[in-house]
Amino acid sequence: MAGPVVPANRQGNQGLLRCIAVAIIAILVLVGLVVLITWLVIRPKKLVYTLESGRVSGFGLHRDQLNGTFDFTLKAYNPNRRVGLYYDSIQVTVSYDYETIAFQTLKPFFQPRHNVTHFEVKTVAQSVALLPSVAKDLRLEKSSGEIELKIRLKARIRFKVGIWKSSHYNLKVVCSQVEVHPNSTKAFKGKKCDVDF
Ligand SMILES: *[C@@H]1O[C@H](CO)[C@@H](O)[C@H](O)[C@H]1NC(C)=O
Ligand SMILES: *[C@@H]1O[C@H](CO)[C@@H](O)[C@H](O)[C@H]1NC(C)=O
Ligand SMILES: *[C@@H]1O[C@H](CO)[C@@H](O)[C@H](O)[C@H]1NC(C)=O
Repeated sequence: MAGPVVPANRQGNQGLLRCIAVAIIAILVLVGLVVLITWLVIRPKKLVYTLESGRVSGFGLHRDQLNGTFDFTLKAYNPNRRVGLYYDSIQVTVSYDYETIAFQTLKPFFQPRHNVTHFEVKTVAQSVALLPSVAKDLRLEKSSGEIELKIRLKARIRFKVGIWKSSHYNLKVVCSQVEVHPNSTKAFKGKKCDVDF
């Protein structure tokens, strides 16, 4: 007899292994296709945030203590046609020179797909103690009639696609170099914000 003799049961094992390998590859390809199709159907798009108005009134700086009302309108646009958003917690902070001067917690809400929502942010700083150096900078800037603030929005969000809801993600929005004119009705320049999640 020519050629190696392969025992019958070993041949059977090899057949089984091949079967399992083919099945695993088929499952992987199938999962890949499902992910690809889902992604193509949902086509996630980044959220768009714009600061539309800003007003600072009752501004007072005495020694290192700051008073003031800082009002902003933040426009949140969800461009997605199939993705809704649950905002489970939202916090907005106003800072100057890395020091937080005021913050506000907003009510949780659901943003439907392809929706524009305006957040009305009304924060109050009352006798906020600033670092002496920060107070000095702020006083100097104020004398020019314009101060530069940073507005941050932090939220815990979940995505909703059809009836499926994702787990939680952190959304971070930063609007930097926001120029406001304390105690003045001077026009506010709109500002696009950076979105990160
Ligand atoms: C801004 O307005 C408040 C109250 O309207 C006033 O007390 C304060 O002195 C004003 N500040 C400046 C710097 O004009
Ligand atoms: C801030 O407001 C408090 C309470 O109304 C007041 O006592 C304080 O003098 C004010 N400080 C400044 C810098 O305007
Ligand atoms: C966007 O969603 C909010 C909250 O559900 C709703 O009040 C508002 O009317 C919607 N705006 C548009 C333009 O659909």
